[in-house]
Amino acid sequence: MEKYAAQTQQEFEGWEEFISKPVDEKVQNFIRQNRIYDVIYAQQFDRSFLDYLCSLADSIRLLAKTKVGQSKLRHLLPHKRAMLYFVQPSTRTFLSFQNACHILGITTSEIRGTSTSSEVKGESPEDTIRTFASYVDLIISRHPEAGFAEKTAWVLNQTDHPVPVLNGGSGPDQHPTQALLDIYTLEREFRTIGGLDGKKIAMVGDLKRGRTVRSLSYLMKNYQDVELVYVAPEIFRMKDDIKEFLSKHDIPFKETEDFESIMPEVDAIYMTRIQNEYGSDPTSEAETYPQFHLKTSHLSLIQTHCAILHPLPRRYEIDIRIDKDPRAAYWRQERCGMWIRAALISYIFGVDGEIMNELS
Ligand code: NCD
Repeated sequence: MEKYAAQTQQEFEGWEEFISKPVDEKVQNFIRQNRIYDVIYAQQFDRSFLDYLCSLADSIRLLAKTKVGQSKLRHLLPHKRAMLYFVQPSTRTFLSFQNACHILGITTSEIRGTSTSSEVKGESPEDTIRTFASYVDLIISRHPEAGFAEKTAWVLNQTDHPVPVLNGGSGPDQHPTQALLDIYTLEREFRTIGGLDGKKIAMVGDLKRGRTVRSLSYLMKNYQDVELVYVAPEIFRMKDDIKEFLSKHDIPFKETEDFESIMPEVDAIYMTRIQNEYGSDPTSEAETYPQFHLKTSHLSLIQTHCAILHPLPRRYEIDIRIDKDPRAAYWRQERCGMWIRAALISYIFGVDGEIMNELS
C-alpha cells in the first residue's frame, strides 16, 4: 500500500507575474497600514525599523526581569493564537519563537513535520497554510523550500482571511528573523564602541547555501561604512546575487580562502556550518573544512573587541574551549533571538507602543 499520496500542485493566477517582480516592488504586498505585516525577506527592514526593534527588544528584556513586568507582557496578547509550522529541523528558531509568543501571552500550536499533517493525503502546502489561517492569528513557518513563506503569504493575502506570516527559514534562501537577531547581537556587542556602523565583519563557512549569511548581508545596506569579508572554500563561495546587491549599494567586500590572514583586521567573525542537507556532491560533503574552523590558537590573532557569532547549530567550526572567552557571543546571540522575536511579534500586533510607554 502506498503510504503517502503525491502532493497536489496548484497553480495560482497572478503568482508567476508576482514572483518575477523585483523585491522592492514585491515588499509592498507584505505591508498593511504602513506597517510590515508579513516578514518574508531581510530587504523589508530599514534602519529606523531595525533601531526601533532593537530598542523594543531591550525594553522587553528589561520588563521580563521582574514578575510584575512579565505579567504586563503576558497580558498584552492573551487573545491571540499562533501556529508554528516547522517542517524542517529546528531547535533555536522554534523554541525562541514559541517562547517569544508565550512572553506576550500568545497561545501556540505546532506542526513539526509533514508526516502528521494532511499533506500525507496529498494536500498542497498552500491549502495546509490556508487551513491554519482558519484557526490562528499568526503563522510562523520553516520549510526546506526556497520561497515557501513568500508564496504562502502571497496566497493568504488573496483570501478574505489573511493572517501575518513570519518566515522562520525558507530553504537555502532567506532567514530574515535570524538576520534581525544577528543585528541585535552585533549592536549590543558593539554598544560601547559605536554600534555596527564602521565595522568590518567576516562571514565564514558555507556562504553558498547558508541562508543566515545571505539575509544578514542584505541588512548591511542599513549601516554606515560597513565592510564585509567572505571567507569560504571555493565551492561554497557567496552567490553572485548577494555580491551584486552589495556592489549596487556600495558596500565594500572581499573574498578569501585564507581565514587566518584576515583575523587581525575584523571586528566580528560570523561562523557557519557546512549545510550538508542541501548537498548533492558526496566528496565535498564528507569534508569538514578545518581551514575554516576557529581554533583556540586564533584567539591571540583576533582583536580584543572582536565578537564571535554563530547562528548555531555548531559542529566543529568553533572549538568548545572558545566558549569561555568573553568574545564568544553565540550563546548570548541565541538568547537575543527570543527578545527580538518577541519585539517583532509585538510590533506585528501593534502592542509595541504599550511596551515602550511602560518604560518611558
Ligand atoms: C540556522 C538555519 O537554520 O539556517 N540555524 C538557525 O536558525 N539558528 C543555521 C544552520 O542551520 O546552520
